[in-house]
Amino acid sequence: MIRILAIETSCDETAAAVIEDGRRILSNVIASQTELHARYGGVFPEMASRAHIEAILPVIEQAMREAYLGFDDLDAVAVTHGPGLAGSLLVGVNAAKGLALGRKLPLLGINHLEAHIYAHWLETRPDGVETEEAARTDLEFPLLALVVSGGHTELVMMHDHARYEYLGGTLDDAAGEAFDKVGRLLGLPYPGGPAIQTTAQNGHATAFRFPRAWLDDSYDFSFSGLKTAMLRIVESYSDPPRGQQLANLAASFQAAVVDVLSAKAARAAEEFKATAVLLCGGVSANQALRTTTAERASIPVHYPPPILCTDNAAMVGACAYRHFIAGERAGWDLDVLPGLRLVERRRTARA
Ligand code: KG4
Ligand code: ZN
Repeated sequence: MIRILAIETSCDETAAAVIEDGRRILSNVIASQTELHARYGGVFPEMASRAHIEAILPVIEQAMREAYLGFDDLDAVAVTHGPGLAGSLLVGVNAAKGLALGRKLPLLGINHLEAHIYAHWLETRPDGVETEEAARTDLEFPLLALVVSGGHTELVMMHDHARYEYLGGTLDDAAGEAFDKVGRLLGLPYPGGPAIQTTAQNGHATAFRFPRAWLDDSYDFSFSGLKTAMLRIVESYSDPPRGQQLANLAASFQAAVVDVLSAKAARAAEEFKATAVLLCGGVSANQALRTTTAERASIPVHYPPPILCTDNAAMVGACAYRHFIAGERAGWDLDVLPGLRLVERRRTARA
């Protein structure tokens, strides 16, 4: 049995988890800074790193306590080292190094985007949090992963564990970033994604016709035009939108984002003969994205429970397990890589 303590501090969640054999969640502790950043309408980097410093040790201690384990029961310490905010990543990386050095444990540096994909290998109960049931053993390569978070929007083929092929990504804003910016334009609380989803429930998705950037037949995305279109509408009103109008704006905006994401994911899955679509990252918590992609794809569409879609350390532990059994180890010079990518090169030719 391999037990890994995983640490995640790339953005505004301080998180630690203990994961067994890359699948079983023994503990999964998340301290969110959402309230701290809400008054600024976004993540305030200096405040984020200070909050991580305050939370990191209690969060790690809680994760160990809830797993009923001592440090001697661990096989490795893993930590997200990119991409993310440098000052935030540093807190997690330094904590992980200190623990690994002090407890003579191997250290692993994990890519946050790859970790979002590995949330799919975690065991979960239908309610999402715990671990008793069998892990999803029905995942067979190749898989199509749509990684949609606050900082990233990427469509990748996963041919095997840790083997990715880049199909496309956003040319400007990330999908989650678009939700957050439009949420702010609509006067909704931060983060915009969940707030827009809730507001959209009472709205008509066809009330406003927002632009869709299809970008010919590429697998790239662009959301900045959508944000500008929303700005124009809101500016044309004398009062901030409210009630039914607000709900219609939220629903129509959400439908535009979901339309492009789900259509491109479904088309890529077909073109590259994927066995399933994996929706990954914070935006994959979006109910409209889940149902629309499932309607459009001719193969199964999987999504983690919402708590494992947004940032957490359990996914980091699941990902670290694959690298651990492949013999990978980080040196004490492990550095933060704020601009780390999942796949370095763009596809140039079609298969
Ligand atoms: O993966 P994540 O927690 O952090 C990053 O790695 O960025 O993603 C956060 C993003 C935010 O932009 C948030 O608005 C979005 O995920 N998000 C959602 C929903 N829940 C979170 N977007 C749309 N619908 C949701 N239900
Ligand atoms: Zn994330």
